[in-house]
Amino acid sequence: MSLVNRKLEHVEICLFEDVQGLTTTLLENVELIHQAMPGVTFKDVDTSLIFLRKRLSAPLMVTGMTGGSQELGKINSVIAQVVEEKGLAMGVGSQRVALEKTEAAESFKVTRKVAPNAPLIANLGLPQLVRGYGLDHLRRAVEMIEADAIAIHLNPAQELFQPEGEPEYPMDALGKLRDISKELGVPVIIKETGSGISMETARLFRENGFTYFDVSGQGGTSWIAVETVRDRRRGHWKANASEPFIKWGIPTAASVVETRFAVPDGFLISSGGIRNGLDVAKSIVLGANMSGMANPVLAKAVSGIDSLKRFFDEVIFQLRAAMMLTGAKNLVELKRRPVVIWGKLREWMESRGITLSDYERIRRGG
Ligand SMILES: Cc1cc2nc3c(=O)[nH]c(=O)nc-3n(C[C@H](O)[C@H](O)[C@H](O)COP(=O)(O)O)c2cc1C
Repeated sequence: MSLVNRKLEHVEICLFEDVQGLTTTLLENVELIHQAMPGVTFKDVDTSLIFLRKRLSAPLMVTGMTGGSQELGKINSVIAQVVEEKGLAMGVGSQRVALEKTEAAESFKVTRKVAPNAPLIANLGLPQLVRGYGLDHLRRAVEMIEADAIAIHLNPAQELFQPEGEPEYPMDALGKLRDISKELGVPVIIKETGSGISMETARLFRENGFTYFDVSGQGGTSWIAVETVRDRRRGHWKANASEPFIKWGIPTAASVVETRFAVPDGFLISSGGIRNGLDVAKSIVLGANMSGMANPVLAKAVSGIDSLKRFFDEVIFQLRAAMMLTGAKNLVELKRRPVVIWGKLREWMESRGITLSDYERIRRGG
């Protein structure tokens, strides 16, 4: 199956099959504290921040999804126009297809054409490095969209359960990525695709010089579920074998905590099941610098520009509402607001040796 057809099938499954929210992010175990006297006027709430040396109006990015054909380029173009207008950031989907078929590059290049100022993030998978990609390939991906950074996605679970997957993750790929990143000239974001980053993985990458992480945890789009649908459609034996793994992964809230605990000085993007502005606010109080969303943006983008604009207006309103009600005028203050962590997330932290008092110090950045 061609890479373009596979991407089209992924998009179709994400839009129409039951592969969303099969588990939770555990953000429901994070409570922000209402302040009846917030000391803040709503219109003064400032959600801006610097990301990749550019100012964003809100701590939000669209994480990598698509590109490769004309239809997919149209989706990229809609998203890029909206993030440019709203002052947000955007990642494109894996550019492997465009490195292998130059005519596919246009569907990625369109993002920079319509979003001259937005931070754009290139995208390739770690398995491509195992199969021979080097500095030149990563440079070409970055140059294709004049990217401000490149996300290298880690997707061992997806590769495992994909009918045609090639689950190769040898340790020397990390050394190769480390060497490439020193020459590349833009930051590398270590990104999962829906199963989350653990403290062990975060520490490993930090020891190799990486400081940007997109945790992409469990609770939103399940790539194990997506590939299981594809297995089932093909009558592949993996459809049954994957069943017990449908809930595999690290919930997004737990992944933010683990990654922040392991990399106190890192820049963290919380993603995977982030669905509204309150999720964004909770992520930031929990230790993330900003949030990312994929599937909800796809669903709105296919309905058109206005639908996506309205969606972001709503999300940003919700974030500002949460900031006002917790008494935070800006994101630095938000990060330091009190929080209650309870239920399964608290148990998760305890069983991973992360005490609430140690974590309180780390998440506030002190
Ligand atoms: C249709 C679709 C295609 C995706 N393709 C890619 C990709 O090419 N590269 C990548 O790093 N992540 C890809 N992702 C994963 C997302 O960036 C994100 O990590 C994951 O879907 C969890 O976020 P969500 O719950 O908001 O969808 C894709 C997601 C969707 C929905």
